[in-house]
Amino acid sequence: MTSSYGLAGRAAVVTGATRGIGLAVARQLADAGALVCVTARDAADVRRTAAELGGIGLAGDVADPEHVRALVELALREFGRIDVLVNNAATNQPYGLLMDVDPDAWRDAFTVNVEAALRLVQGVWHGWMREHGGAVVNVCTEGAGHVGPRVGAYGTSKAALLHLTQQLAGELAPGVRVNSVSPGLVRTEMARFVWEPGEEEVAAGLPLGRIGEPEDIARAVVWLASDAAEWITGADLLVDGGTRVRAAYSAQAYAVHDRLRSAAPPRP
Ligand SMILES: NC(=O)c1ccc[n+]([C@@H]2O[C@H](COP(=O)([O-])OP(=O)(O)OC[C@H]3O[C@@H](n4cnc5c(N)ncnc54)[C@H](OP(=O)(O)O)[C@@H]3O)[C@@H](O)[C@H]2O)c1
Repeated sequence: MTSSYGLAGRAAVVTGATRGIGLAVARQLADAGALVCVTARDAADVRRTAAELGGIGLAGDVADPEHVRALVELALREFGRIDVLVNNAATNQPYGLLMDVDPDAWRDAFTVNVEAALRLVQGVWHGWMREHGGAVVNVCTEGAGHVGPRVGAYGTSKAALLHLTQQLAGELAPGVRVNSVSPGLVRTEMARFVWEPGEEEVAAGLPLGRIGEPEDIARAVVWLASDAAEWITGADLLVDGGTRVRAAYSAQAYAVHDRLRSAAPPRP
């Protein structure tokens, strides 16, 4: 980051911050001068990350309301403020056709991907942001915009998170901005099962020619959390290397377009 975008001295809570996109977000926030509080389930990873960032951390599961409460309390006690909340932790389980999915496992996905985000926003709102303002960024997914094979639980929960983002943006304005970032395929553990066997193939099909790196997503998250985005709320920023437009630019789409264009009426 070359600019602090007004983040210097502000305090941020980032969930799922020990690897992948969350770690990149936490690093960029710290580089911008923010105080950072991280969480994830693995305690050793949380300790290592907090030490690297010169910040604080608390190990736990965001699905546990008690952990969420303790996390917010810790950040308020140590930093005296929470200006930025990044809801990044998520699960892509259960994987499979919805007709075969155990409804309890489906509900677990919603607990982590949607309910935890709401609980965290409630915590920071009542603890700091209602009086002092702030910014929330939820990490959704490009896939929330369409259906896909065997990702029904993940997709429906992320679509709910997208809607939650917009609902909260309406309810918490003008003091608190709430936005989301929707990544395409990014080189992280969560998506390894997709990119490892097929990176070249996927990259070749993308308008920008490569899969995403965690830093690509982090730059968008940090920007939305910063004063540079002070007039943006309820927005979803797609950071996907052109995944969403891929279909329109496929060879087949070009062929159809060329055929239709040749049949188009002459310009008046
Ligand atoms: N990678 C992609 O292609 C992609 C695409 C679209 C959207 N996304 C979204 O981007 C976000 C980050 O994903 P990622 O790919 O960076 O994943 P990742 O590399 O697997 O990292 C996930 C992070 O979240 C933590 N975490 C997972 N479950 C948690 C829980 N219940 N409570 C607390 N912490 C938890 C993990 O640590 P512990 O395991 O120690 O808890 C880890 O720090 C997610 O919201 C994901 O849906 C990713």
